[in-house]
Amino acid sequence: MERNIIWMRNLVLMALTVALVVANGNCYKGGGYDQPGSKFVQRDGTHFTMNGKRMYLNGFNAYWFMYMASDPSTRSKVSTTLQQASLHGMNVARTWAFSDAGYRSLQVSPGSYDENVFRGLDFVISEAGKYGVRLILSLVNNWKDYGGKSQYVKWASERGQKVSNDDGFFTHPVVKQYYKNHIKAVLSRRNTITGVAYKDDPAIFAWELMNEPRSEFDQSGKIIQDWVSEMAAYVKSIDSNHLLEIGLEGFYGESVPNRRPFNPGSVLVGTDFISNNRVPHIDFATIHLYPEQWIPGSNESAQSDFVDKWVQAHIKDCNDVLRKPILLSEFGKSSKSEGYSLEKRDKYFQKLYDAVYGSARSGGSCGGGLFWHVMAQGMDGFHDGYEVILQDSSSTINIISQQSRRMSSLN
Ligand SMILES: *[C@@H]1O[C@H](CO)[C@@H](O)[C@H](O)[C@H]1NC(C)=O
Repeated sequence: MERNIIWMRNLVLMALTVALVVANGNCYKGGGYDQPGSKFVQRDGTHFTMNGKRMYLNGFNAYWFMYMASDPSTRSKVSTTLQQASLHGMNVARTWAFSDAGYRSLQVSPGSYDENVFRGLDFVISEAGKYGVRLILSLVNNWKDYGGKSQYVKWASERGQKVSNDDGFFTHPVVKQYYKNHIKAVLSRRNTITGVAYKDDPAIFAWELMNEPRSEFDQSGKIIQDWVSEMAAYVKSIDSNHLLEIGLEGFYGESVPNRRPFNPGSVLVGTDFISNNRVPHIDFATIHLYPEQWIPGSNESAQSDFVDKWVQAHIKDCNDVLRKPILLSEFGKSSKSEGYSLEKRDKYFQKLYDAVYGSARSGGSCGGGLFWHVMAQGMDGFHDGYEVILQDSSSTINIISQQSRRMSSLN
C-alpha cells in the first residue's frame, strides 16, 4: 500500500517536471541569455535579429513593474507576471523607467534618485533576465502620470528658469539637460542584484525616448523632430548596445501629405511618423491604437476600418520607406468601451495578431505586438478596463499563447 503511494507520488512529480520542462522549452532557453554569442537584439534592415537569426516578438505592457518592485510586500507580483508571461511564450515587455517627483518616485528632484525605487527597477530587470522576457524601457512620459514632461518644466520653473509652457521640455536648454541627466543616470546605473550596468544588460531590448511624445503648440513637427535627433544621439553616445525607439503613437505629419488622411480625424500632434523615424539613431518604429478615444462617437465598423488601415499603412511605410522594423507597442480593448464583451476583445486581439503575423510571415517589417496591458492579481485599484490578468485563465490568454507560438516559429 505504502509503496504504491510513493510510486504514485513519484509519477505525479515526474509528470509535473516533464510539464514544466516542456512549458519552459517552448518559451525560453532557461538561464537567461548566457548562451555563447547570444547577447543584444540587433536589427538588420526591416528585421530584428539575434545571433544573426531573425527574431520575432510577442509581448505586453506593464507600466507598474518598478512601482510594485520597490515595495518588498508587492515585489512578487513582478516575478509572477514575468513567469506567467514566459510560460505563455511572451518574450518582450514594455515598462516605465521613470517616475518623476510624487509618491514613490524614482527621480525625486532633478538628478536626485530614491535608491529604494532604483533597486526596484534593478529587480525588474534582473527578473526579466531570469525569465527570458526582454524589456523596452521608456525614459519619460508625455502625460502627467508619474511626473512626465510637465514635472520637468515645473522643476526648471521652480529654479528660476522662464519656461513658457510644456513644450519647454523639448526646447529649453535647462530642461533638456535635466532629461539628459536622467538618461545618463538610468543607462549607466549598475544593477545592485546582477552587478551589470543597464547599458550592458542583454535583458533590455530597447530604450524608448518618451511615452507618446506630443506637442500642443507646434504642429509643424519641427520641435519634436529636433528633440528626437538630439536625444537619440545622446542615448547612443552612452549606449550603443541597445536598440532605440521614440515611443510614437504613429500620427503622420507634414513630410508626406498623402499619409495625412490615415490620421484619425485631422489630428496633428506635432509628430511626424516618417521624418521622426528617419533619424538615423532610431532603430525601429512604433504605433499605438486607441480608435475609441481617437475617433469618439464612431461606430464599431468605422473603428475597425480605421484600425486595419492604420496598421497596414504603417507596416507598408516601414517596409518601403523607412526600411526599419515596427512594433505595435500598445493596443487593447477596454471593458468600459461601448458594447464590450470578452468575445469582442478576443476578436480584436486576434485581428491585430493576424496582421502582425501576416507581415512577419511574408518577410515584412512588423516584428511583433505588445498589448496594453497586463496586471497581476490583487491590483484592483489599478484597473482601467484594459487589464488582462494572466493568472485568470481566459480565452484571451489562449489567443496570446497561440500568437507567441506562431511568431517564435518564424525565428
Ligand atoms: C458607421 O459609420 C460610418 C461612417 O460614419 C457610416 O458610413 C456607416 O454607415 C455606419 N455603419 C453603421 C452600421 O451604422
